[in-house]
Amino acid sequence: DRSIKIAPSILAADFANFGAECATVEEQGADWIHVDVMDGHFVPNITFGPATCAAIRPHIKGVMDVHLMIAPADPYLAEFAKAGADVLTVHAEAGPHLHRSVQMIRDLGCKAGVALNPATPANAVEYVLDRIDLICVMTVNPGFGGQSFIDSQIEKVRQLRAMIGDRPIHIEIDGGMTPTTAPLMAAAGADVLVAGSAVFKGGSVTNPAPYGENIRAI
Ligand code: DX5
Ligand code: ZN
Repeated sequence: DRSIKIAPSILAADFANFGAECATVEEQGADWIHVDVMDGHFVPNITFGPATCAAIRPHIKGVMDVHLMIAPADPYLAEFAKAGADVLTVHAEAGPHLHRSVQMIRDLGCKAGVALNPATPANAVEYVLDRIDLICVMTVNPGFGGQSFIDSQIEKVRQLRAMIGDRPIHIEIDGGMTPTTAPLMAAAGADVLVAGSAVFKGGSVTNPAPYGENIRAI
């Protein structure tokens, strides 16, 4: 279903070649590029920060979707906005002032996203619904690619879709998306699917066709 956007996560790309990886996966049909920032504190893994996001930015024609798995996030929001994030997503669990965080993101000119860990209830976003553009439902515990999908999150997506009503808010799914799990989430009400290993497996910048085949299979 092509009304569903596919957002390949560069966590599964060649870290020495992000620029070419982003351009290649876009040419192969990616709708957004999902950029996973991890701090080794909020999640048990470290990736990269705003300087890398800024370096990647000129190689992306479409939406750069930056997922911050960092705590605290607020002190760094301006830097990620300056790096060129279109969507800037913070975790609801990353700090005590989610309302302030999403306001800061919009004030910086970015679309505001809130990510929910698997154990966090849907109603964590209830009182910010008029101030956000995206909810990212984590269908794995954040930190690593290649984990398997947690199916209890299907019900959370249904709850969020009902709670959102007619507000123009994307529901994005992150973790364990495959040709088997993706349709379940689309049916529950998701409209942006992040996929790392399922997109990048079998391909490379010099052998890009598998990226396109993988995207079309999701
Ligand atoms: C997990 C990241 C995801 C990850 C998804 O912490 O937020 O974006 O890259 O990887 P796959 O699609 O392999 O589960
Ligand atoms: Zn992510």
